[in-house]
Amino acid sequence: MSLKKETNILITGGAGFIGSHVVRLFVESFPEYKIINLDALTYAGNLENLKDIENRVNYEFIHGDICDTELLDSIFTEKKITHVVHLAAESHVDRSITDPLAFVKTNVIGTVNLLQAARKHWKEGEEHLFYHVSTDEVYGSLGDEGFFYETTAYDPRSPYSASKASSDHFVRAYHHTYGLPIVISNCSNNYGPNHFPEKLIPLMINNIIHKKSLPVYGEGKNVRDWLYVKDHAEAIKQIFLKGKVGETYNVGGHNEWTNIDLVHLLCEIMDEKLGREQGSSKELITFVKDRAGHDLRYAIDATKLKEEIGWEPSLQFEEGLSLTVDWFLENKGWLENVTSGAYLDYYKDTYES
Ligand code: NAD
Ligand code: TYD
Repeated sequence: MSLKKETNILITGGAGFIGSHVVRLFVESFPEYKIINLDALTYAGNLENLKDIENRVNYEFIHGDICDTELLDSIFTEKKITHVVHLAAESHVDRSITDPLAFVKTNVIGTVNLLQAARKHWKEGEEHLFYHVSTDEVYGSLGDEGFFYETTAYDPRSPYSASKASSDHFVRAYHHTYGLPIVISNCSNNYGPNHFPEKLIPLMINNIIHKKSLPVYGEGKNVRDWLYVKDHAEAIKQIFLKGKVGETYNVGGHNEWTNIDLVHLLCEIMDEKLGREQGSSKELITFVKDRAGHDLRYAIDATKLKEEIGWEPSLQFEEGLSLTVDWFLENKGWLENVTSGAYLDYYKDTYES
């Protein structure tokens, strides 16, 4: 895709974990284009994640909800939005089990609101793109063997993945029915700086720091494919620039770990970095009640992305994990800020009962 002169890119969910890395990368990579970050600043959104770029001339933040159709209409009109990179979502599987409707609202209805705004404001023949960022969890759960391909049938099994699958279907439906120029990517589990400490890796890092118990669900044998968040952001940029309209691209790290092996590795890295006796953090591991409907294994085949776009992960896992631990140790204030207030209320109900 060649970007024309007046390019105004609306990034939704840019104050969140992945969104903040995407916003920064786009602001720095495209000084000639305007980057507008629309974020509702839910518990997961945090403007501290973007402090270093908040005064850039090609960046603007709008505090608002993708469920607010009037706001979307005015943003498309006033900011002359030409491209959308849509990341805003409720993103945590455990929360989707306790409150599925919040996921329907933002992930399904919010996405359709954005599609409607794009459909209303974009005319045929103009250069536009609606880039929808999604997850590999839409494909369901694998056994010990095999991978998710772009052609794998959807089989979502949690309220989170069902809401993301639904949003993916709507995005494709708007392409087929109305000719909206879209692209979708489905990525495996991310990790790295700015990761909210409700997900496995940052939760374990936070608990190791505070010598709190490390809750491993079930027997810890579930497998996830982990990708460093900056590699995902780079994949999004490459797909944004080179992806074919109407296509789907899988993004993954070829980096499968059982949860228990991953937690062991994290304990070893952190014992060393914190100057604690090797093995002491592992003693904090507690096997807890399994997640309802817990998907056994996710694994992505990202060959299409490599062959058609030329993207590959740049970091080895141990290197990415070490960088991640360093970031959390250097940003304890960030951890303290996000683990107060609403976060504490949620965890009181979830883990301390
Ligand atoms: P996150 O929960 O860290 O951030 C979500 C952001 O969206 C937050 O800033 C939040 O304030 C904002 N938001 C939520 N509801 C909103 C609304 N109604 N209106 C406007 N903003 C709203 O999520 P994340 O992990 O950064 O994930 C970003 C996207 O990438 C999601 O669409 C997710 O499904 C997808 N994804 C995530 C992963 C992962 O491992 N985290 C993997 C693959 C795909
Ligand atoms: P999570 O980070 O929530 O991502 P997802 O469920 O979207 O893959 O969880 C990753 C894996 O870690 C998943 O198999 C559930 C497990 N897990 C735990 O064992 N303990 C925890 O405290 C959390 C949050 C997750």
